[in-house]
Amino acid sequence: MSGTAPTKRLFIKTYGCQMNVYDSERMADVLSPLGYAMTDVPEGADLVVLNTCHIREKATEKVYSELGKLKEMREENVAGGGSRSTIVVAGCVAQAYGEEIMRRQPAVDLVVGPQSYHQLPELIARTHRARGERLAADFAPDAKFDALPARRASGVTAFLTVQEGCDKFCTFCVVPYTRGGEWSRPAEAIEAEARELVAQGVREVTLLGQNVNAYAKDAGGEGGLAALVRRLARIEGLDRIRYTTSHPRDMDAALIAAHGEVAELMPYLHLPVQSGSDRILKAMNRAHTADSYLKTIEKIRAARPDIAISGDFIVGFPGERDADFEATLDLVRAVGHAGAFSFKYSRRPGTPAAAMPGQVDEAVKDERLARLNTLLDEQARAFNAAQVGKVLPVLFEKKGRHHGQLIGRSPYLQAVHAVAPDRLIGQIVPVRIESAARMSLGGALELESV
Ligand code: SAH
Ligand code: SF4
Ligand code: F3S
Repeated sequence: MSGTAPTKRLFIKTYGCQMNVYDSERMADVLSPLGYAMTDVPEGADLVVLNTCHIREKATEKVYSELGKLKEMREENVAGGGSRSTIVVAGCVAQAYGEEIMRRQPAVDLVVGPQSYHQLPELIARTHRARGERLAADFAPDAKFDALPARRASGVTAFLTVQEGCDKFCTFCVVPYTRGGEWSRPAEAIEAEARELVAQGVREVTLLGQNVNAYAKDAGGEGGLAALVRRLARIEGLDRIRYTTSHPRDMDAALIAAHGEVAELMPYLHLPVQSGSDRILKAMNRAHTADSYLKTIEKIRAARPDIAISGDFIVGFPGERDADFEATLDLVRAVGHAGAFSFKYSRRPGTPAAAMPGQVDEAVKDERLARLNTLLDEQARAFNAAQVGKVLPVLFEKKGRHHGQLIGRSPYLQAVHAVAPDRLIGQIVPVRIESAARMSLGGALELESV
């Protein structure tokens, strides 16, 4: 018998947040020693994994329609003499619904929650023997991280999970139920993973957590996110550090100071506020006010004046009146965002807000969302337009859409395209910004870098 396993094809479809993107990469790492290599299409794959998101109703419903399609695809393949692919549901819907998924769609072979995917090899082997458990939904991330193999990087930027879970229990949100309580990885393990990434050519890491700025405020980790950032900034070859997602409550003085002092910490901050109305913030259990949020932004801007601010907003939370929504628009005007995500409130089973009186009509939500988006759009365009004429350091990541072009990111996370030779991929290069659109910038290399 030969020592190397034959290649099997693995297809992973990822929904939801960056944590799921990280988890999907780690699932591929876990399965690689078994001979699984990634493919871009589900057709003909031996193993299909849907890494799911439960945050809004639409995200959850998408999983079931996708499973219906996969079932048909598999039946056609088997009828044509092909092999039977194994279908796995992973991620937050897996954690929330468990066995119910297999009842609703019997074609599913295995359901694996976000803290259990290190067990995939064993679980897949069991399903192949057609016996044993088909559900793994533990709540202990430490066992998972201890069991994960070495990290493989592809590209010059990478995500790195440092914290999982949430203790905040915003009344609209399922995350505390799908990801469990706040838990931080030890700093040594994070540093070791960052070093593995840098050794493979990564120059920028984004530290991930559902509440990443609560890093080490639970029992794990040490010193808080600011100390972690400073520790990682000392790694030779790691030039850029970002982190997401943060809660306004955990934006402490040490972290704000780091924004002014650590050159590797990029001037971009995603700090969701959800609403500008204190009444609604209270009903959401956010534990901050519009004013305290604005004061936090002021302090951050004092430390790092050019910082780009982004956020998340929910419109149509139960009880939201016109005046509450106007307060949100006022807050948006006061902050001035580089970009933001906005959502219509979605009623999630089991969350307190789902049972609140004053649920808002869809038509009203639609109208508010459109107005908010118009304002956020104007702000994003203005932020991008303000870069025209400046020279920004751009980390080139890959080839662009047009021949001879590369695409990279500015310090403010804007996509920047410029005509540049391929050898500059992985380099941070000064680019003169010449044009700006809603989602990207165009520029030209400054002569001395060519
Ligand atoms: N931990 C992060 C974000 C988690 S979810 C934080 O606290 O900011 C990402 C975003 O989805 C949230 O910021 C919120 O704006 C949105 N969201 C969460 N639950 C939602 C719901 N039930 N309906 C609509 N949007 C929701
Ligand atoms: Fe959800 Fe709130 Fe926790 Fe963010 S802080 S994950 S919105 S409960
Ligand atoms: Fe979705 Fe789970 Fe992330 S619900 S947003 S994939 S933490």
